[in-house]
Amino acid sequence: MAEPSRSPRAAEDWSAAQYLKFEDERTRPSRDLLAQVPLDAPRRVIDLGCGPGNSTELLVERFPSAEVIGVDSSPDMLRQARERLPRRKFIEADLSTWTPEPGTDLLFGNSADAAAAIGSIVEGLTQLRDALERGDREYARSFLRAARSVRSELS
Ligand SMILES: C[S@@+](CC[C@H](N)C(=O)[O-])C[C@H]1O[C@@H](n2cnc3c(N)ncnc32)[C@H](O)[C@@H]1O
Repeated sequence: MAEPSRSPRAAEDWSAAQYLKFEDERTRPSRDLLAQVPLDAPRRVIDLGCGPGNSTELLVERFPSAEVIGVDSSPDMLRQARERLPRRKFIEADLSTWTPEPGTDLLFGNSADAAAAIGSIVEGLTQLRDALERGDREYARSFLRAARSVRSELS
């Protein structure tokens, strides 16, 4: 796996050129993962940590009618992705705080970073479940307030 390059703009910016040196090898895990996805016609598909658009391209090929959106925090990766798929939408965001729009049917990501983002969502829901089980209504109320505030920011 290519190491993130150091740049003044972003401490952990990735180098798209470096990453694409071994594109076929790097895309294989996404290809294998996508082969396990049982969906036929999702409406909106998000490529979490889309990198230079190699995995996004697989999603576009597999789901030609879907709105496929790539999300990544690296400007260099996003520049490459936009060049590769100019008609698709790419969003610069940190997955640890970014939230998908309603109507999203597939969150796709093969990287540890994507797994970490999904992990933090699952962790939040697990804490909510535990709070409800122990009758901690205040925790549940503050969780719902935070969720509503994220939702209103999105709408
Ligand atoms: C291993 S690459 C995966 C690229 C491509 N999806 C693939 O399957 O080959 C991981 C990508 O995740 C992005 N990334 C890492 N941490 C992130 C975060 N917190 N939020 C958004 N993107 C992140 C990096 O910029 C990088 O482009």
